[in-house]
Amino acid sequence: MSTFTYLDSELHCDGVSLATIARAEGTPLYVYSAAAIRERYRAIDEAFGDYPHRLHYALKANSALAIVRVLRDLGSAADANSIWEIDLALRAGFPPADIVFTGVGKAGHELERAVPMGLKAINVESAGELERVESLAARAGVRARVAIRINPDIDARSHPHISTGLKINKFGVPAAEARELIAAIGRRSHLSLVAVHVHVGSQITTIEPLRNAASFVADLAADLRRAGTPLEYVDLGGGLGISYDGQAVVSARDYVTALVDAIRPTGLPIVSEPGRAIVGPAGVLVASVVDVKPRTAASEFAVIDAGMTELMRPALYSAYHRIDPVRQAADQRRQYEIVGPVCESSDVVGRDRELTPLAVGDLVAIRDAGAYGSAMASNYNRRPLPLEVMVDDGQWRVVRRRQTVDDLVALERE
Ligand SMILES: Cc1ncc(COP(=O)(O)O)c(C=O)c1O
Repeated sequence: MSTFTYLDSELHCDGVSLATIARAEGTPLYVYSAAAIRERYRAIDEAFGDYPHRLHYALKANSALAIVRVLRDLGSAADANSIWEIDLALRAGFPPADIVFTGVGKAGHELERAVPMGLKAINVESAGELERVESLAARAGVRARVAIRINPDIDARSHPHISTGLKINKFGVPAAEARELIAAIGRRSHLSLVAVHVHVGSQITTIEPLRNAASFVADLAADLRRAGTPLEYVDLGGGLGISYDGQAVVSARDYVTALVDAIRPTGLPIVSEPGRAIVGPAGVLVASVVDVKPRTAASEFAVIDAGMTELMRPALYSAYHRIDPVRQAADQRRQYEIVGPVCESSDVVGRDRELTPLAVGDLVAIRDAGAYGSAMASNYNRRPLPLEVMVDDGQWRVVRRRQTVDDLVALERE
């Protein structure tokens, strides 16, 4: 059975009625399927067959502890983008040796804590950062395991805001400088080079950028071995896209095949850091219609109680998410501009959507919202962070309660 399906004209998550959850907990709320998370993780993991590999779930996609623990229990490792994501990973039970620390701007205090921790690797983004890691490692009397993130100048052909592998993007060490930096590591007693790392973007829906990035890494790894600098593994980042609109995208199998085909000649284990591909389709954002009003002769505004504060992607990247009524009504269709409650004109969740007629109080489900949804939510307009629910084995439970006014002012001093 697919995860979110209509039963008796009502949208369910793994057999649990979304309307029932919304009645009990109110809206807006995120609902995640543990079964879908497991299935999507396994699809990538099993596609590697017996090729040595490790999936490091990218916590930035959604670091709800309940989700992270499901993945840890499956054997996932973690990719953390800040010291706070590292803390979260430790709290979720990942040992430091299962955590890679990525990120373009690691502050001094973050590195100070991370360097002595014994992480699997710190993915270093510049010559300056490498020096800072080295001096902290020397001070702590440790040898820091580092990977060099290289900017391979590859076009991910994704949205410009989530393409990271072009020379003009802020990420990584330019390919032309990488070899020199890597050669220098061999002479440093407090650094140990364990990998090279690339991540060329997110929501990549064609295979070429992923294959090209893997080939780039394979060639470099082979050169390094010839030059007497063997690596322990290669880190190919994340980026596998999902289908937000029903169009075909690269499958997990084709993605993994491309990575393995490129890297196999080196014999090196592969680290992959998927985020979106695991949790994106496993979550929906459920919202209520709070107002309906005329827009043009042909369409109306449907104002819902979720917007850019709960799901920033449409406002940030003009991202498309399918929006479906939780209760399917007659065949009749009307055109709606589905907008959030925030006082910004960019707070549009879905443009020009044809839906069954909506009335105040009706519920809608915004699909494929499990990744970069709740993780990017904000308190703008003093809106509380939404409640989150996990459905597992036919049961549902609140895994994060809704914020209260007390939570919202808890950090303030008058
Ligand atoms: C270094 C790195 N790894 C992994 C990811 C996860 O990407 P995705 O969710 O597209 O798989 C990101 C996200 O941008 C990233 O920056």
